[in-house]
Amino acid sequence: MKTPSCVCGVSIFFLFLFFSTHAWAGHDTARPAKKGILLVAFGTTVPEAKTALDQIESQVATRFPGLPIYWAYSSRQVRSTLADSGTHYDSVATALARMADEGFTHVAVQSLHTIPGAEFQGLRETVTAMTGLPKGIKHIELGQPLLSSHEDLVACAQAIMDTLPEKRGPKDAVLLMGHGTHHPANVYYPGLQYYLWQLDPLVFIATVESAPFVDDVRRTLQSRKVQTVYLMPFMAVAGDHARNDMAGPEEDSWTSILTSDGLTCIPVLRGTGEREAFVRLWLDHLHIALERLAQ
Ligand code: CO
Repeated sequence: MKTPSCVCGVSIFFLFLFFSTHAWAGHDTARPAKKGILLVAFGTTVPEAKTALDQIESQVATRFPGLPIYWAYSSRQVRSTLADSGTHYDSVATALARMADEGFTHVAVQSLHTIPGAEFQGLRETVTAMTGLPKGIKHIELGQPLLSSHEDLVACAQAIMDTLPEKRGPKDAVLLMGHGTHHPANVYYPGLQYYLWQLDPLVFIATVESAPFVDDVRRTLQSRKVQTVYLMPFMAVAGDHARNDMAGPEEDSWTSILTSDGLTCIPVLRGTGEREAFVRLWLDHLHIALERLAQ
C-alpha cells in the first residue's frame, strides 16, 4: 500500500511548486520573478570617457539578452558634478530602490571597479543592506571587480599583453596607470606587476595615489636604458586621471616627468572599459553572479 501515498506526496509537491512559482494575487511573497542587471561604475565627468561605459553596456546586452540593464555611479562627487550640469545618475542604493519599486525580484549587481577596494566594499555593504527588505528585491548577487583572485590576475595580465600598442618596438616599455588607494586592496597593483613580469619585463604598473610609485618605475626605466614608453590608463575609463595626471602638460604629470628624464612618451587614451579583452573578464564575473541568482 506504499504506492498511493507516494503518488499523493508527489502531487502535493507539484501543487506546491505550482503555487510557489505563480503570481498569487494580493500576496507579495509570490510575486512573479523579474530579473535584472545593475552595472556599477565609479563614474566619470569626462563625456569622451563615458563611451567606455556605453560600450560595456552594449556588450552586456549582447551576452545576456533580454535582461533589463540599470546603472549606478558609486562616486558621490562624480554624481554631484554631473547633476550640476543637468545629468542625473543614481547611487547604488537609489538604483536598487528604484528596481525594487519597479518589481524586480532578482538582481545581479556587477562592479566595474578594478580592485576590491573602498568603492567595492561600499558597494557590498549597500547590497547587503538592500537585500531582503519588505516588498524589496528578494535576491541580489554581487559580481566581483576586475581583479579578485589569482585566476583574475593571470587573465588580466594576459589581457594587458593582448592589448599592448601594435607599434611598440622590442625595447619600448609600457607603463600602466592604476588608480591606487589607501585601502589594503591596493596590493593588487604590485600583485599584478608580478604576473606582468612573468610575461614581459618591460611592462610596468604604477598608481596615481599609492604604490607602486611612478618614481620606482622611473629608476628602473633609466637603469634599463629605455628610450620610449607607452603610457596607458589601467582604469575602466580614460577620464580625468588619464587625461591630466598621465598625459597632461602639467609639470607633475607622468608624461612631463618621464619626458624630463629624456624618454619619448606616447600616451594612449583608452580605458580598460573600451577594450573587449577586459570587458570580457568583468562579464565573466557577471555570468557567475547571474548563475548564483538562478539557484
Ligand atoms: Co581619483
